[in-house]
Amino acid sequence: MITNLIQIVYVSQPFGFDEPTLAGILLDARRCNKRDDVTGALVCRDDIYLQLLEGPEGAVRAAYARISRDDRHARVKELLNRKIQTRLFANWAMLHDPAKTWIWTEEEIADAALDRAEPTEIIKVFNDLSDRSGKPAVH
Ligand SMILES: Cc1cc2nc3c(=O)[nH]c(=O)nc-3n(C[C@H](O)[C@H](O)[C@H](O)COP(=O)(O)O)c2cc1C
Repeated sequence: MITNLIQIVYVSQPFGFDEPTLAGILLDARRCNKRDDVTGALVCRDDIYLQLLEGPEGAVRAAYARISRDDRHARVKELLNRKIQTRLFANWAMLHDPAKTWIWTEEEIADAALDRAEPTEIIKVFNDLSDRSGKPAVH
């Protein structure tokens, strides 16, 4: 059977951003994603989460629905939803990037830069991150 793979990217605003909260989120994400064959990356900073989820369509939609209801962040907004042939983060249950990849300043984010960003710009953030992530063991 051929599985339909999709990618969803969303942006949100952290609520109560600190190390224990982030560690808890990553624990939940990796546990569920390993179970559901979902992979992806979470770029984070105290003013923003930008997450890419990829995998079988039903599993990604279900994960996104759960994530949307999570009160550890607010103003969850879908930026991208597309079919894909191959994954960008095949080896990562959820790669965590503490905004090293970040191309927008806090001022730009506050000024809603992501609302104006083109899909190609958003995908570029994750392409660059994927290039730099190498081929590690499953995390
Ligand atoms: C920023 C953020 C990213 C998350 N990423 C994922 C994820 O990649 N996969 C996932 O299943 N849950 C993720 N979660 C956690 C879900 O919101 C939820 O707690 C988890 O899927 C367990 O769902 P359940 O409590 O309904 O069983 C994330 C939550 C936040 C706040």
